[in-house]
Amino acid sequence: MKGIILAGGQGSRLYPVTISVTKQLLPVYDKPMIYYPLCTLMEANIRNILCISTQKELPNFKKLLGDGKQWGIEISFAIQNKPKGIAESFIIGSNFINNENVALILGDNIFYGIDFEEYLSLDDKRFNGAQIFVYKVPDPQRYGVVEIKDEKVISIEEKPINPKSNFVATGLYFYENSVKEIAKTIKPSNRNEIEITDINKHYLNQNNLKAKILKQGTVWLDAGTSTSLYKLHIMFKQFKKDKAFK
Ligand code: TTP
Repeated sequence: MKGIILAGGQGSRLYPVTISVTKQLLPVYDKPMIYYPLCTLMEANIRNILCISTQKELPNFKKLLGDGKQWGIEISFAIQNKPKGIAESFIIGSNFINNENVALILGDNIFYGIDFEEYLSLDDKRFNGAQIFVYKVPDPQRYGVVEIKDEKVISIEEKPINPKSNFVATGLYFYENSVKEIAKTIKPSNRNEIEITDINKHYLNQNNLKAKILKQGTVWLDAGTSTSLYKLHIMFKQFKKDKAFK
């Protein structure tokens, strides 16, 4: 399975900080934000990774990450000129994905959990359809809301006014190779983005969308606001302190 980190966007919720510094390069406690999604892909045993960002920011990501050899992985880079939607990753990354399955993670999504590596493990050769990772939140209307019954996805809706559940899709997704072709068929939404939720709906209609609920004790946050960034700083500082005592 190959991996894509999507690290473009505008970061407007963090203005004015992100006017001159791109969000995914900001520090989260003691590391640049993008290290966290990179580690998550590595925990899923993914070794070949494409980092997508804007033309302006890409040189900074290259400077930071290099070609990945220092970590025993391969990192390459591609440009998304405008934030035309998360699902555009599969169009931009089409040649990179080639004939493999692909995992996508958003560059500002931070997962932290005990035994997370084990939890993410999958049989790449037998993988089919799509796999999303869901998390219970108090404010689901901000996200792609997933309705689940007996571990089966019943519906998925992007930012609904009346959410049918408190489970939302996090920014980590696994797809079979067909996602490359499906992405090309998705029409832009009202906000003019190629929506990842539309990709997930496609697999849901084919009865091939699986949702894994993040284990109790696992933390997921998108680091897109100053409040979530602040929470993450405190959390990782505490983890580091706890580790030092062990
Ligand atoms: P968002 O948080 O939805 O958007 P943003 O980062 O531009 O922030 P804001 O809403 O504050 O303006 O994006 C989630 C992640 O996906 C983030 O890492 C940026 C990335 N992204 C892209 O790289 N390209 C895109 O077209 C979109 C929609 C998001």
